[in-house]
Amino acid sequence: MALATLLNSCQTRVLTRLGEFDKVQFQKLARYGYRSLTGAPHEKRDFAFYVMNQLAKWLDMRIYNKHTNWQNDREFLALMQSFQAKYPRVKERQFFLYNLARDLRRLPGETAECGALGGASSHVIMSAFEDDRPHHIFDSFSGLSQPTEHDTPKTQGVRALQAGEFASPLDETKANLASHASACFYKGWIPERFPEVADKQFCLVSIDVDFYEPTRDSFEFFFPRLVAGGAIVCDDYGFSTCPGAKKAMDEMAAKFDRHVVHIPTGQGLVLK
Ligand SMILES: C[S@@+](CC[C@H](N)C(=O)[O-])C[C@H]1O[C@@H](n2cnc3c(N)ncnc32)[C@H](O)[C@@H]1O
Repeated sequence: MALATLLNSCQTRVLTRLGEFDKVQFQKLARYGYRSLTGAPHEKRDFAFYVMNQLAKWLDMRIYNKHTNWQNDREFLALMQSFQAKYPRVKERQFFLYNLARDLRRLPGETAECGALGGASSHVIMSAFEDDRPHHIFDSFSGLSQPTEHDTPKTQGVRALQAGEFASPLDETKANLASHASACFYKGWIPERFPEVADKQFCLVSIDVDFYEPTRDSFEFFFPRLVAGGAIVCDDYGFSTCPGAKKAMDEMAAKFDRHVVHIPTGQGLVLK
């Protein structure tokens, strides 16, 4: 039923946009198409990109620029391939996190992640640091907590996330991260187990718990414990599915006289 509705809406949009398809665009399509058949190998790629890009535009979406080098960064691709977990990876966000972590490793302080699921982002952080400083992982390992009224999506047609979604058993996450001796696990609802690291300092904290309350509690606990130059990254900041995470980040950043840098990947960055 949901699939039928989606297909219907896509069909309506494409048909509407087809009506806007003008002579210039048609000539462009024909020229690229001809070149892809007769020209150099890159012409085929350019033609495929042009067609897909037009389709995406018609659906009010976009695809990445094909010339961005990060998508072919060998070091990063190898790093992601070395993480053999079943959870889907969102590479652009992890690429940003990886680069940030590579810079912040010059600072003193430990690292943490609130909301680790199968451990992909924790793998990225620990791999970037390449040293044995502890990385603290806080997760219920039972999925998302209860949403509040702040977590209801405001955008029409956006699905509301539910309590219990994104559950990964602790043993599985531990197995995924078995190659990292620096991983320390704290199973429980945020902020229950934060007092166990209250005397530590941090240079990088990743917050990825989707909802208002745990995002607020994580920021409030960790920001005062960041070293100068340290950073908090919220993975959910710019997503219509997570309005509560944005609200919590904005409120907490204001409380500590900071501003959230909204990264086009959807992440939010706050620097100390
Ligand atoms: C979207 S997943 C995190 C994805 C992860 N960062 C990655 O790299 O794949 C959200 C995680 O937050 C955890 N979580 C959500 N709310 C929580 C809370 N209140 N306390 C503890 N863990 C929570 C869930 O169990 C889940 O593992």
